[in-house]
Amino acid sequence: MSSKGKGILLTGIRASSDIHLGNYLGAMKPAIERQGEFQSHFFVADLHALTTAPKKEDLRRNVRSIAAAWLAIGLDPEATILWKQSDVREHVELSYYLACLTSMGLLERAHSYKDAIAKETVVKAGLFYYPVLMAADILLYDSDFVPVGKDQAQHLEMCRDIATFFNETYGQLFKLPQAVIMENVAIVPGVDGRKRSKSYQNGIDPFASESDMKKQIMSIVTDSKGLAESKVPEEVIPFQLYRLIATAEETAGMHDGLCKGGYGYGDAKKELLRKMLEVFGPMRQRYAHWMSHPNDLDDVLHAGGVRAREKAQKMMSRVRDLVGL
Ligand code: ADP
Ligand code: TRP
Repeated sequence: MSSKGKGILLTGIRASSDIHLGNYLGAMKPAIERQGEFQSHFFVADLHALTTAPKKEDLRRNVRSIAAAWLAIGLDPEATILWKQSDVREHVELSYYLACLTSMGLLERAHSYKDAIAKETVVKAGLFYYPVLMAADILLYDSDFVPVGKDQAQHLEMCRDIATFFNETYGQLFKLPQAVIMENVAIVPGVDGRKRSKSYQNGIDPFASESDMKKQIMSIVTDSKGLAESKVPEEVIPFQLYRLIATAEETAGMHDGLCKGGYGYGDAKKELLRKMLEVFGPMRQRYAHWMSHPNDLDDVLHAGGVRAREKAQKMMSRVRDLVGL
């Protein structure tokens, strides 16, 4: 099949910190596993990171770190377009047209917004607008499939709603994209048992130095059961994480050990660390290589930006025409 006949796969990772196991298992790995079957478009969502007003040095570093992670896990920059969201101004332009059709009520129902009003004293308009910008990211490239973690399912539903408003108002243009959600890894727990998220700083970073990874794993919260006691593996966070990356046999081994007793939380954590280093070993080397060659990384992002912009501009001329501008 020529690349023209293939469907379009797209996903983005927010540049708000280094990646964590949740990003990798929930969105990046499923995307990479499918990249050859589709015309693939993976981007670093730096505009989305601005809702937390990061320091500019941190933002720039995070953009490179996420791009390096994409390349390290197997993104093929010849076939797949990898770019930085802010290099394609059309994301923001399209988001404005979409915002003009989106009701406040729809956005008020977003879990991300509800969480923010529950937790923060001041909620920024940028955060409220987040689902509109995300819809623009997706619709700008005529996407068919969007690999994301389960926490993003609602944003995908909103994107479909927003696309429908546009099509009904101005005429059929946008396809309705489908989320690709891996049910077995839908929500990867953090070291404290909450959903792992960059905002809680509670993740395990597959590309951290060995000593930092060790610290992250050793800080995983467990209860106070002693070494000899029998434990319920499903309630043990190191086990919950281990089974996401270990073989069936290894998983059964840790499961048995925890049930029988005589296998402590420290043992489970050590084994999790060993497995992380084994699974991510070659990827960690590639990540380190890209991070130590920032100019090469910038070149890849730049070339991807040129390709992405070409597509975005074509879509935007159709949008402007339909809107009457
Ligand atoms: P975060 O949620 O950590 O701030 P992002 O918003 O950039 O990170 O998320 C990027 C992708 O990673 C999204 O598709 C999101 O659904 C997925 N993801 C994030 N956290 C998890 C998690 N704990 N489990 C599974 N997928 C996750
Ligand atoms: N909102 C996503 C997240 O926080 C990141 C993201 C931004 C994204 N734009 C996207 C994911 C478009 C998929 C498609 O996880």
